[in-house]
Amino acid sequence: MSMLSVKTLVIILFLHSMLLASMVITEAASGSKAKRVKPPKPVKPVQELLTCKSRKSKCFMKRIKCPVECPKIKPKNPKDKACFLDCYSPKCEAVCKSRKPNCNGPGAACYDPRFIGGDGIVFYFHGRSNEHFNLISDSDLQINARFIGLRPQGRTRDYTWIQALGLRFGLHNFTLEATRTQNWEDDVDHLKLSYDGKNLNVPEGHSSEWNSDEGEIQVERTAMTNSLTVTILDLVEISVNVIPVSEEDSKIHNYQIPANDSFAHLEVQFRFFGLSSKVEGILGRTYRPDFENPAKPGVAMPVVGGDDKYKTSSLLAADCALCVFSPSKVKDDGHGSSPLMEYGMMDCKGGGIGITFVFARNYADTGAAGVEAPK
Ligand SMILES: *[C@@H]1O[C@H](CO)[C@@H](O)[C@H](O)[C@H]1NC(C)=O
Ligand SMILES: *[C@@H]1O[C@H](CO)[C@@H](O)[C@H](O)[C@H]1NC(C)=O
Repeated sequence: MSMLSVKTLVIILFLHSMLLASMVITEAASGSKAKRVKPPKPVKPVQELLTCKSRKSKCFMKRIKCPVECPKIKPKNPKDKACFLDCYSPKCEAVCKSRKPNCNGPGAACYDPRFIGGDGIVFYFHGRSNEHFNLISDSDLQINARFIGLRPQGRTRDYTWIQALGLRFGLHNFTLEATRTQNWEDDVDHLKLSYDGKNLNVPEGHSSEWNSDEGEIQVERTAMTNSLTVTILDLVEISVNVIPVSEEDSKIHNYQIPANDSFAHLEVQFRFFGLSSKVEGILGRTYRPDFENPAKPGVAMPVVGGDDKYKTSSLLAADCALCVFSPSKVKDDGHGSSPLMEYGMMDCKGGGIGITFVFARNYADTGAAGVEAPK
């Protein structure tokens, strides 16, 4: 064997071991890479953008970013606050709000119906059980309520709750009802909906939604069951819960709820996007700039009447004495001039009964905002 071939062999062996070593190093490197757990980078949520499509708005066509605290317009988690842009506020600013009805905010109708008017003043309207009353009547929007209730022996009036809402806008009808149930269970759905006379099924589940073909009405569940938001484009946003009359409430108020009915009813909060100054209805009139609340300051439970003026013959009828719904007519005033904003900025005169703090939130809760896809 020559010296050369030995040398060659040594070189080959050397190269081979080099190669092996480098492979081991590579493996070791990649192995350590996989094992070194980096702390997860906080995922910065995409802050969605909103804009207002009304020329009167301070936000007209501006792109407003949602706050970091509530980056999404429709958050996936039912407990998260949603981003909301108030087109009627003097400030052009997106804010966070709950998607559930706030019974202490303006436009609320909860309990044995306790309302909070557009002026921030609390009042009660009892009506009568198994009858229908108008809550909002404007030229392009009509919202009626069906009352259910009972009258324990010896009482002079019915205890009542709102069981259903009937909405008319344009030529369309929408109804929303709490279904009667003997024994209440939270995870069983008690909602029944209809659109233009046909039953509407919005599958159970948080964020499940339905849009009409023309897109002017949207229904979105805000919990797995028994909560939703109805939005009618440029007119109103309604957040709704279905709840029973609790045994506790029944005891406190001595309702004497029978064992065979949980009196499932609605908790509602309305946000209006441009009522006219001629708006009518038990709740609607409180949004008029010239409204003087008959609820007397200092009275603990101001009850307002008006049964005769606001009674309708059915859930969708617009036949109450003061109803002004007439979808074929063009709104004659108010619509474009942001009456709510002027109203919201008026001095709060005479509103002396406790809940006046919500007055400041009045206009902050009413604006319509268009949604823009995040870039
Ligand atoms: C809506 O309801 C009104 C009053 O009941 C009725 O006259 C009208 O035909 C309904 N419209 C539709 C589209 O269902
Ligand atoms: C429920 O019970 C009341 C008496 O407490 C009775 O008048 C009513 O008919 C019952 N309703 C049903 C649907 O069984």
